[in-house]
Amino acid sequence: MADMLKKVTVQVPATSANCGPGFDCLGLACTLYNRFTYERVPEAEGIQVEAEGQGGESLPQGRNNLAAEAFCILWEKLGKPATGLRISTRIEVPVSRGLGSSSTAIVAGLTAANALAGSPLSKEELVTEATRIEGHPDNVAPAILGGITVNVMEEGKVESLKLALARPLQLVVLVPSIPLPTSKARAALPQEVPHKDAVYNVSRAALLVGSLLTGDYHFLRTALEDRLHQPYRLPLIPGAEEALEGARQAGAYNGIISGAGSTLLAYVPAEGDARKVGEAMAAPFRKRNIETALHVLDIDPEGARVIEIQ
Ligand code: HSE
Repeated sequence: MADMLKKVTVQVPATSANCGPGFDCLGLACTLYNRFTYERVPEAEGIQVEAEGQGGESLPQGRNNLAAEAFCILWEKLGKPATGLRISTRIEVPVSRGLGSSSTAIVAGLTAANALAGSPLSKEELVTEATRIEGHPDNVAPAILGGITVNVMEEGKVESLKLALARPLQLVVLVPSIPLPTSKARAALPQEVPHKDAVYNVSRAALLVGSLLTGDYHFLRTALEDRLHQPYRLPLIPGAEEALEGARQAGAYNGIISGAGSTLLAYVPAEGDARKVGEAMAAPFRKRNIETALHVLDIDPEGARVIEIQ
């Protein structure tokens, strides 16, 4: 039966890695999505990728496309015969902005290959496969599992714990028009950090997880602070420091850099004025003639899902 499956559409959420102090280990999925349709065609046709939407025109073609490459890696690993592919994508997640756009492609490829092969791998196994490709688990794990996840690498496997949030939160997401490649944002980080900065982050990451689980969100002001990456990356995003201060003044618990940036994300009380927070975050960019796009999002509870298969 599985070998007869020819076409699958998967939807993968954007993700925000790090969640402040959880560098390379915490991540959340949010309600902004990329959609990928994979159709098996005769091998002679190779791999064609069609894209529409933001940034789609600049995506690479053929197996150089991450969505194609991830599919082929798993397809071959599962011992499936070579196949031609037609991939069409609808891109809503902005590229190179710290919202996990490349993870959506990796997760889509793996989810599609797994589905067309009859779903031999569990979601947990897909997380480990995706992390092998991405290098760190904090985007791919929530993209697959949904929610907010704590992700730890242990002997080549990823252990991911999905947190059940005690109460809802609003995510105010401000995307500046300036791209920030992850490689550049990672190059800005020091090789070593002072021991006191490590303690600063361990204590806050622990407080953050506890706060999310208990619903004691008043701790988020302190718990979202970080010294492992944000102090080094904020100068790469002109206006960001002011924008995060603006978010706090306008009623957010706190704001952080989403992933490696340039997007900023504020955690706002469910009953808070999300638009007002977004306005306060956008103002410092406007002053610098930098355009921004504002999204008020929820946490995606489910992660990557197969929309249609035939
Ligand atoms: N944890 C990663 C980083 C996420 O901050 O560099 C970006 O892919």
